[in-house]
Amino acid sequence: MDHFLYHKGTLHAEDVSLAEIAASVGTPFYCYSTATLTRHFRLFQEALSPLPHLVCFAIKSLSNVAVLKTLGDLGAGMDVVSAGEYLRAKAAGVPGERIVFSGVGKTHEEMRIALEGGVRQFNVESEPEMRALSEVAVSLGKIAPIAIRVNPDVDAKTHAKIATGKKENKFGIPITRAPEVYAEAARLPGLEVVGIDVHIGSQLTDLAPFEQAYQKVADLTRTLRAQGHAIRRLDLGGGLGIPYERANSAPPLPSEYGALIKRTLGDLGCEIEIEPGRLISGNAGVLVSRVIYVKSGEERDFLIVDAAMNDLVRPSMYDAHHDIVPVTEAAPATEAHIYDVVGPVCETGDTFAKARPLAPLKAGDLIAFRSAGAYGAVMASEYNSRLLVPEVLVKDDQYAIIRARPTYIEMLNRDSIPEWL
Ligand code: LLP
Repeated sequence: MDHFLYHKGTLHAEDVSLAEIAASVGTPFYCYSTATLTRHFRLFQEALSPLPHLVCFAIKSLSNVAVLKTLGDLGAGMDVVSAGEYLRAKAAGVPGERIVFSGVGKTHEEMRIALEGGVRQFNVESEPEMRALSEVAVSLGKIAPIAIRVNPDVDAKTHAKIATGKKENKFGIPITRAPEVYAEAARLPGLEVVGIDVHIGSQLTDLAPFEQAYQKVADLTRTLRAQGHAIRRLDLGGGLGIPYERANSAPPLPSEYGALIKRTLGDLGCEIEIEPGRLISGNAGVLVSRVIYVKSGEERDFLIVDAAMNDLVRPSMYDAHHDIVPVTEAAPATEAHIYDVVGPVCETGDTFAKARPLAPLKAGDLIAFRSAGAYGAVMASEYNSRLLVPEVLVKDDQYAIIRARPTYIEMLNRDSIPEWL
């Protein structure tokens, strides 16, 4: 459920007309709904209660500081994977004790920034990283709390580019080697082992792979405790999928996911951490774009819009589906027209949808790509020297630009010509 609905024939974000925002901000732009962000965060809170838990929003899915503050003010923790994300969480007012630092290649500098600024735990992904973290912590006179990310060798049954829990993937240490790696961690002077971490992939639409992975984590918790490790936190990662095609997909609900966690891990007395990104931010955002031209090709009609793959890369990168709707509601019983929806970038991969039935559209009309809040703006670039897409946050009947569109001068001024040229 989200808060993008038609009122009097125009698509609104909560109580604000997207046409009105388009008129003042220009297109394309991302628009996020505070009510949807809040609702989705609370669904996870409720799903895990009464277990002691922390829902850490995966910042990588949507990292605008205003969005982070919205969630942080509700009590959310943050899952970060770089110093940049860490500093965004801090800038949003989230205290270090609610920030979990994940990621497969943390640099010494990133470790230092987080240790000095305060961090709940590092999710360590390899033995070399573990040794480096111990050294950095000792050099700062600190102790780094860690969970070790284990790779449970489970097939997440999702797109290959976003599956992370198979042994051939670069993530974590093999779960079979965990006892020996934990034994070394316990000996390192700069570390304190606090838990176990696992994350098997993203956009999972079936609970079975989670269940397999969490069973293995439950067994490992018992084994490690028997070996004397004080395992008190379990970080279960993110990955719960969302219905990108509303008409025919119904992935499991957070409540069902929460019940699974309670069933598999609830009796261990651990604090549960989860790192959802997409389920909180995905359906909380749309990308609004304007039709530039309708071009009739020999085989099909192209809707050429002013958003492109640099603004929303998911369709070209993962063949992802995003529902597309007109901002002005079509009259009832309007017959659909079939379009290829494409952007202006000079490659065929810049295609949002092929043979998509949509209400007939003309140049100047506005459309919205749904479910674009997660991995949308954060993956945007300036490819083709197109200006970085702006972001707008709505709350009830108010809206604010939370990242302005740069000017062409600003874009050009970031380059410099060497003196010798
Ligand atoms: N925790 C870790 C360690 C992760 O690597 C990820 C996502 C998450 C949590 C959040 O997963 P979520 O709940 O959002 O599924 N760009 C791709 C998705 C990449 C996901 C990477 N890791 C896409 O657009 O589909």
